[in-house]
Amino acid sequence: MALIKSPRGTQDILPGEWPQWQRIYSAAERVAESSGYSRLDTPMFESTALFTHATGEHTDVSREMYTFQDRGGDELSLRPEGTASAFRAYFQHGMRVLPQPVKLYYLGSMFRYERPQKGRFREHHQFGCEAIGSPDALIDASLVALQNRFYRQAETTRLRIQANSIGDGKCRPAYLKELVAYLRQHEAELCGQCRDRIDRNPLRVLDCKVESCQPVLNHAPHMLDRLCDECRAHWERFQDGVAATGLAIEVNPRLVRGLDYYTRTVWEFLPEGPEGAQSVLGGGGRYDALAETIGAPATPAAGFSTGIERVMLNLEPVGGSKDQSIEVFIASMGPEAKLTALRVLAALWESGVPADMAFDDRSLGTQLKQADARDATVAIILGERELDENSATLRFLATGEQRSVPLKEVAAVVAGSVGDAPGR
Ligand code: HAM
Repeated sequence: MALIKSPRGTQDILPGEWPQWQRIYSAAERVAESSGYSRLDTPMFESTALFTHATGEHTDVSREMYTFQDRGGDELSLRPEGTASAFRAYFQHGMRVLPQPVKLYYLGSMFRYERPQKGRFREHHQFGCEAIGSPDALIDASLVALQNRFYRQAETTRLRIQANSIGDGKCRPAYLKELVAYLRQHEAELCGQCRDRIDRNPLRVLDCKVESCQPVLNHAPHMLDRLCDECRAHWERFQDGVAATGLAIEVNPRLVRGLDYYTRTVWEFLPEGPEGAQSVLGGGGRYDALAETIGAPATPAAGFSTGIERVMLNLEPVGGSKDQSIEVFIASMGPEAKLTALRVLAALWESGVPADMAFDDRSLGTQLKQADARDATVAIILGERELDENSATLRFLATGEQRSVPLKEVAAVVAGSVGDAPGR
C-alpha cells in the first residue's frame, strides 16, 4: 500500500520549524495581553448557519467551508474564520454585562477549501483580536496600532497599511445601486468572475486584480465619496486616531474585504512592492451589522486577524537560526554511563538548563559532533575512564577547553557555568 500523505493544502509543522512558530505565537500573546485582550478558545466546528449568516452566503469564505452532517444529523462546519465564533461566545456567555468593549484574542487553525498555492492553504492559522461592544472609531485605530505592533514584534519586513470606509446600512445601499449600474454598463470589459459577482457581491468586484478589468474599476464610483454624515465623521475620527498612534496609512478607495459583515472601517496590511496585494498578511475592520445577521441584539464591534503562515513568508531574514539549540549535551559510552547521563540530564533540567543527551551507542566522536550541531555550549563526556574515576569531563565546545569535575557536582557546576562559559 502506498504511504498515506497529509491532505492537500495542509502542512506539518516540523520540529525544526516549531521554535519560529513559538516565537510568533509568543509575540501575539504578549502584544494582545499587554493591550488588555484576553484569550478565547472556541470549538474547531460550529453550526453551519453561524458562518453562513455571519460571513454572508455568497462570499468565497462561506462557499469554501468544510461542511458536514454529523451522525446526529446536525449541520456543522469547520471554522473558516474566528470572528463569528468570538461574537457567538460573547453573547452565549453573557459578556454584554461586562464593562464594554470586551476585548478577546485567539490563536488557532481555520479551514477553507481553497486552491492551494504559496501562502494559501486549506488549513491555516490565525491570530485575531476582537473588541466587542463599542462604536468608537478610536477602537478601530487602536486595533490597527496593535496589529502593527504584533508585526514589529514578530519581525516581519516593512509593511504598508491600507484603509477604506465601506459605509453602513444607511449609505451603502444607494451606493451599491450606483455601482451595479456602472458595472452593468461596462460588463463587456470585465472578466468572467467580475461579471459573475455584479449581482451577488458587487463590492468584491472592486477587489479584482485582473489587468484588463483595471481601467473600468479605476473609474468606478467610490463609497468614500458617498458616506453619510455619521460614517464620514467615523472615518475622519479613525484617521485622526491612526495619526495619533504615529502610523501612516494609505487610503485605498477600492479596498473591500472578503466577508459581508463589515461596516465603515476596513484595513489590510500588505508587503511593500508590486506582489503585495496578492499576499495580504492580515486585515480587519468594523462589523457593527454582524449582530443582527445572527439574531443578536445590536452590538458594535471591530477586530482584525492575521495569517501566521503569511507572517512566516514575510519575516526579516535573520543570520544563522539556532533551531532547537541547547546549552548542554551529554555524550556517554555503555549502558552504565547512559544511566548516569540520564541522572545528570534530569538534574540539569531541574536546574532549568536546556540539555539533551545521546541515547544511541555511536562513538564519542560522533556524539560530540551532535553536540556541535545542536549548538551546545558545553558537552559532558561520560566514558569508561570517567566512570572509573567517578567523574565527568566538561568540554567547552567553542574553545575545546576541558575540565574534570567530580560526578556528584557536575550538574551544579554546569548549571553555574553555562552563562559565562569561555568563548560565549
Ligand atoms: P480574512 O481576510 O478572511 O479575515 O483572513 C485573515 C487573514 O488570514 C488573511 O489576511 C490571511 O493572512 C489569512 N488567511 C486567510 N485565508 C487563508 C488561507 N487559505 N491560507 C493562508 N492564510 C489565509 C478574517 O478571517 C476576519 N475574521 C478578520 C477579522 C477579524 N475581521 C474582524 N475581525
